[in-house]
Amino acid sequence: MRIGTLTGGGDCPGLNAVIRAVVRTANGRYGDTIVGFRDGWRGLLEDRKIIIQNDDRTDRLLTKGGTILGTARTNPDKLKAGIEQIKQTLDDNGIDVLIPIGGEGTLTAAHWLSEEGVPVVGVPKTIDNDIDCTDVTFGHDTALSIATDAIDRLHTTAESHQRVMLVEVMGRHAGWIALNAGLASGAHLILVPEEPFDVAEVCATVKKRFQRGDSHFICVVAEGAEPDPKSMTLREGGIDEFGHKRFTGVAQQLGNEIERRLGKEVRTTVLGHVQRGGTPTPYDRVLATRFGLHAAEAAHRGEFGNMVALHGTRIELVPLADAVKQLKTVPAYRYQEAAAFFG
Ligand code: F6P
Repeated sequence: MRIGTLTGGGDCPGLNAVIRAVVRTANGRYGDTIVGFRDGWRGLLEDRKIIIQNDDRTDRLLTKGGTILGTARTNPDKLKAGIEQIKQTLDDNGIDVLIPIGGEGTLTAAHWLSEEGVPVVGVPKTIDNDIDCTDVTFGHDTALSIATDAIDRLHTTAESHQRVMLVEVMGRHAGWIALNAGLASGAHLILVPEEPFDVAEVCATVKKRFQRGDSHFICVVAEGAEPDPKSMTLREGGIDEFGHKRFTGVAQQLGNEIERRLGKEVRTTVLGHVQRGGTPTPYDRVLATRFGLHAAEAAHRGEFGNMVALHGTRIELVPLADAVKQLKTVPAYRYQEAAAFFG
């Protein structure tokens, strides 16, 4: 069998572990040829690829961050227009099944291809943990531990200076990193995109904590968090190439407002891409490895049009059509649980 694979969208720790698991299973166990397309869907649009063997070099990929195949974000309209070209490249390379590894955009493209009759088995990845129909995606645990470590460190410096510290974390339109890192590090407030915040309430929470005699305040702000427009207007960030609202540096703007209203010293840290870099945590290595193994096995069983997913302790297959219907955001009950620890 000839299996094509690619990594699409933003990189994330664990991508190489999936590639290794696919190669070890498909090439090592079944003798398949693995064709890795370069730089996401671009590699398929431009027929750029490498053959990946089950050798020592591939085996060492387990701990390596990033992706050896390279990745890119491709505008969905460009992709749609290029579907015939992608099918042609797959034909030219004699690909029997494609295993795209990616987030919302990549899995949506995988679903289109599958509807066009291309045999596809998707693998979900993202630090944001916003892919539906799987309990979790690999990459999230690594981002979470980096963010948690950073917030732990901010506690001690904030305490020494009696400051308010705002930490902006990634997550796009979902608040999973903020919620989980905030809970794990004992933040005094967590702001997520799913729950618009009121600046007056934020200030009241800060004030109450200092009045009680506490020495510092840590607030984790998801990059997609938004104020209730009645309480504060955010600077316009424009629209990105996918038609999504651009993030505006919400933590910095909120920090300025808190400083203005309360006269307290505020410092803001934006963690940015450090959350996506470096070696995956053991949890992510295991999940990525299991995803890769099951994707290769599903390809061999001919169970196309699906995505591998974690359900409890098992890896199962779910239709791509179901997985891409909506993003998995933080439910209200999870935010309320976290709110029990605010202030
Ligand atoms: O989807 C992963 C992610 O890291 C988001 O959390 C973040 O908003 C986005 O990618 C950043 O994208 P880029 O690497 O293109 O700046």
